[in-house]
Amino acid sequence: MLAFLSLPLIFLWFGEAFSSLSPFILHERRSHIPSGWFLERKHPASAVLPLRFGLKQSNIHNLEDYLYDISDPSSPNFGRHWTPGEVVKTFAPSAESVTVVQEWLIDNGISKERMRVSPSKGWIEVDTTVEEADQLILADYHVYTHESGQEHIACEEYHLPEHIAPHVELVTPSVHFDAVIRPRPMTRDTALMKSDITFVNSTYPGVGHCDTQISLDCLRALYKFNYSPIASGSNSFGIVEYTPQTFNQSDMDLFFTNYSIPELVGRPPFQISIDGGYQQTFNQSFDYVGESQLDLQYGMGLVTSKLNVTLYQVGDAVNPNTSFNNFLDALDGSYCTYEGGDDPALDAIYPDTQPGGYDGSPACGTAKPAAVISTSYGYNEADLTPFYATRQCNEYAKLGLMGVTILYSSGDSGVAGNGQVCLNDDGSQSTTGTRFNPSFPGSCPYVTSIGATQIVAGNSVNDPEVAAARVTASGVFYSGGGFSNVFGLPDYQRGSVASYLKNFKTDNFTSAAYNSSGNSRAFPDIAANGAAYVVAAAGEFILEWGTSASSPTMGSMLAMINDARIAVGKGTIGFINPTIYSALFQTAFNDITSGNNPGCGTEGFTCSAGWDPLTGLGTPNFERLKELWLALP
Ligand SMILES: *[C@@H]1O[C@H](CO)[C@@H](O)[C@H](O)[C@H]1NC(C)=O
Ligand SMILES: *[C@@H]1O[C@H](CO)[C@@H](O)[C@H](O)[C@H]1NC(C)=O
Ligand SMILES: *[C@@H]1O[C@H](CO)[C@@H](O)[C@H](O)[C@H]1NC(C)=O
Ligand SMILES: *[C@@H]1O[C@H](CO)[C@@H](O)[C@H](O)[C@H]1NC(C)=O
Ligand SMILES: *[C@@H]1O[C@H](CO)[C@@H](O)[C@H](O)[C@H]1NC(C)=O
Ligand SMILES: *[C@@H]1O[C@H](CO)[C@@H](O)[C@H](O)[C@H]1NC(C)=O
Ligand SMILES: *[C@@H]1O[C@H](CO)[C@@H](O)[C@H](O)[C@H]1NC(C)=O
Ligand SMILES: *[C@@H]1O[C@H](CO)[C@@H](O)[C@H](O)[C@H]1NC(C)=O
Repeated sequence: MLAFLSLPLIFLWFGEAFSSLSPFILHERRSHIPSGWFLERKHPASAVLPLRFGLKQSNIHNLEDYLYDISDPSSPNFGRHWTPGEVVKTFAPSAESVTVVQEWLIDNGISKERMRVSPSKGWIEVDTTVEEADQLILADYHVYTHESGQEHIACEEYHLPEHIAPHVELVTPSVHFDAVIRPRPMTRDTALMKSDITFVNSTYPGVGHCDTQISLDCLRALYKFNYSPIASGSNSFGIVEYTPQTFNQSDMDLFFTNYSIPELVGRPPFQISIDGGYQQTFNQSFDYVGESQLDLQYGMGLVTSKLNVTLYQVGDAVNPNTSFNNFLDALDGSYCTYEGGDDPALDAIYPDTQPGGYDGSPACGTAKPAAVISTSYGYNEADLTPFYATRQCNEYAKLGLMGVTILYSSGDSGVAGNGQVCLNDDGSQSTTGTRFNPSFPGSCPYVTSIGATQIVAGNSVNDPEVAAARVTASGVFYSGGGFSNVFGLPDYQRGSVASYLKNFKTDNFTSAAYNSSGNSRAFPDIAANGAAYVVAAAGEFILEWGTSASSPTMGSMLAMINDARIAVGKGTIGFINPTIYSALFQTAFNDITSGNNPGCGTEGFTCSAGWDPLTGLGTPNFERLKELWLALP
């Protein structure tokens, strides 16, 4: 019936140019409804949908080659990062794509005035009624409800006319469940449960008790990380938080007072608000401050007061739909949406402090990306369609082209997904699933995924760490890791992964439990301590566990390596994976050889000599990393 409505229209507009009709072809289909969601009812025909057409990007098939060309230390072009303008120009959809899609919309009764084209030409957006959308793309929009009560509009599948499909990457809202149920599924803080908070009376100075309480001193000692920045004017380190997660300055001040960094007392991070992001004050209970306080107290404490940490605060407190894409839109002209246009509030906050080559494209006023960006939130790969995840993953590669290092925590549920959810054979998720559930964006080959380690009880900072593992009455925490079901094996980790799979004995589960093909992206890449961080929150000192802690800690070390390189006139380290997996760099990591990461009814993977899917290549030796990176061009 729907096809009947549309075909005559197509016939009309392409009556001359097309000798045959342009039939509709399936563009995307979802195999199942994500766990926790239920189909509720048909969406009313007159309801308005902000329909967005993501246009096919030019040259995207060359992206991987471009990235390795500048980030493989053996490449003659190593370190020759691109400007944002070069990125925009190289990947911008062709003018033809914009025209063809616009004409199709016009011929379906949508006037040009109703369309918005993003400054980078990456998106065309139009507010349509559900009825119009159903007819345009042969969808059938329904309202879905989550267990938490949140609603989401989606369809099971949609179609595009054959001549439109090559110009469009995806349409939203459609089959994707990008919606975020706050604060849990997107956060990596499953170990940070309120019932599980350990209060500590005061803080231990020095490094005598790092097995029970991690402090700044402990991390410095563990990773030989004593560095005072000297090139802060042109360096940057960013931490991303999603509202309503917030920090409270008086907690920050308590932390820095008791950890003897008086210079940081009263000093908030440099805040960049994206899509209305702000520090909400309506609820500062642990659930709302645990993540930000941890990330900022350690991120800022480790880079010292000499480098201003940038806080990207994304989303307002009420919109449940804020996603990594909102953040990415703000960073990169080739990705940004109609919302990402000139925004003096964003640009004015952060002028010209970036390392060379980051000059923003004036056509698209975006927030400048910091040289190292750490995020401690994440999805299960299975929450997203492969299409959606791939598009976002490619965006991380583009940031890598610009010399930005992107870190994501690898997850806190071992081989299971957020909330201990696993995969069923059909790809849906449930707690009774038996297949491992990789996390995203950690499974994207263009980010650096950070796992967690801990000091064995009774041991000191000089003893080898093990993979993080914590079992309490209220839950478990194991370093996230495994093998993607979506992304192929990147060249840089081919040898490491082959060696692990060759030696690994899956005696507690079969190779059907995970993508054991040896052809898929494996994570994490590296690890840092993620156990019992002393954090000031809601006026008290508490302990926090999670890869949430590992990521900002790693980020602060990489930011200081950038500082050392900038100080001698070199560029930022950018996308680090090809470098850290190179033979030379193996001496710069403390290999973690003990521990496992249970989940999905199994004992999970086991640490081994060399790379493993719990702690990656191991924990950093900052001194050695600095030396090696200073020797690179
Ligand atoms: C906190 O102080 C109280 C009273 O001094 C003591 O009983 C308790 O063991 C202390 N707790 C910790 C975690 O140090
Ligand atoms: C902070 O340190 C001071 C002095 O060392 C100590 O008296 C106080 O109890 C500490 N605060 C907390 C909340 O532990
Ligand atoms: C950091 O921010 C403070 C203001 O908060 C400013 O005075 C200082 O110059 C900044 N430092 C750098 C290195 O940008
Ligand atoms: C704040 O959030 C916590 C945890 O979600 C909740 O238990 C509490 O009732 C909230 N407090 C207020 C004042 O809304
Ligand atoms: C979130 O997305 C749904 C559609 O998926 C939409 O109906 C709702 O209005 C959005 N919420 C906000 C605050 O934008
Ligand atoms: C394993 O990963 C590869 C590469 O990403 C993918 O093509 C394949 O479909 C995956 N297999 C399974 C069973 O998920
Ligand atoms: C921030 O923390 C302080 C000290 O715990 C507390 O008095 C204040 O109410 C908090 N602010 C908000 C908005 O909750
Ligand atoms: C793997 O080990 C776990 C924990 O020891 C056990 O509960 C489970 O039954 C084992 N699974 C298999 C398939 O052997």
